[in-house]
Amino acid sequence: MTEVVVVTGYNALAEVYEWLISDAKLAPAEFAASFDDVLSLLPSNAHVLDCSCGTGQLAVGLAGRGMQVVATDASEAMVRRTAELSEQFKASVRTVRADWQELPDHFEDDTFDMVFCVGNSLHHAVGARGRGAALESMSRLLRPGGRLVLTSRTWELVRARGSRLDISDRLVRRNGRDAVVVYRWEIAPHWEEEHHIEIAIAQVDATGLVLVRSELLSCWPYRYEELEVELHRVGLRTEVSTFDLEAENYMVVASKV
Ligand SMILES: C[S@@+](CC[C@H](N)C(=O)[O-])C[C@H]1O[C@@H](n2cnc3c(N)ncnc32)[C@H](O)[C@@H]1O
Repeated sequence: MTEVVVVTGYNALAEVYEWLISDAKLAPAEFAASFDDVLSLLPSNAHVLDCSCGTGQLAVGLAGRGMQVVATDASEAMVRRTAELSEQFKASVRTVRADWQELPDHFEDDTFDMVFCVGNSLHHAVGARGRGAALESMSRLLRPGGRLVLTSRTWELVRARGSRLDISDRLVRRNGRDAVVVYRWEIAPHWEEEHHIEIAIAQVDATGLVLVRSELLSCWPYRYEELEVELHRVGLRTEVSTFDLEAENYMVVASKV
């Protein structure tokens, strides 16, 4: 039996997650529209799962198109924020707290037409074993011919830059409050080792007071080539890939054989 290791670490960040989301992903309809090409392959009432839903912008955007949406995440706080956003938009989204390996306990095999795992989530799976188990769960839940849509950081680029501090070059304004966003990248000597990203959101109020929320996240990077092999191993065949060694992020769409 596969050992279940769950690393969440998003509970403090859930409160301030909008400061980490790009302007383009803040509005649910716009976030969903960024996947127009793959969504056009689905009927309007398709069954879709966002299995690392974060604060729910994608799930709510998909529900707004009439799709039957389930949103899951390992973090209770993230799931709560997704439920709140759904309520705010009067969207019908079923929310469940579950990490990837727990998904088959909640849903029948062959349930979904499309599974989303987007926004730099998969690197939180613990090593090649954890990633394989996570991808296997996602594959099981797809109906034959269904598709996994995955977006990822280009870890080849991130590792080449080494450990460093990235500080936002302008204030990020959300909910009428400004913040400086800081990423501290801790790059381990070898690919397969645990890496860390420490994220701090330093909000500055009108009186000059600074309120900091931060979290140290663990991640296990992977090369694109490894991801391809791992997808194939769980019965998924790559249909579309935007991987480019010079681009920060890429998308893979893989269908269940
Ligand atoms: C960078 S956020 C991305 C959230 C959202 N998809 C987006 O695009 O904004 C990564 C998400 O993965 C979730 N996560 C981390 N480990 C997980 C696991 N083992 N199973 C399911 N979700 C996990 C975190 O709680 C967090 O919400």
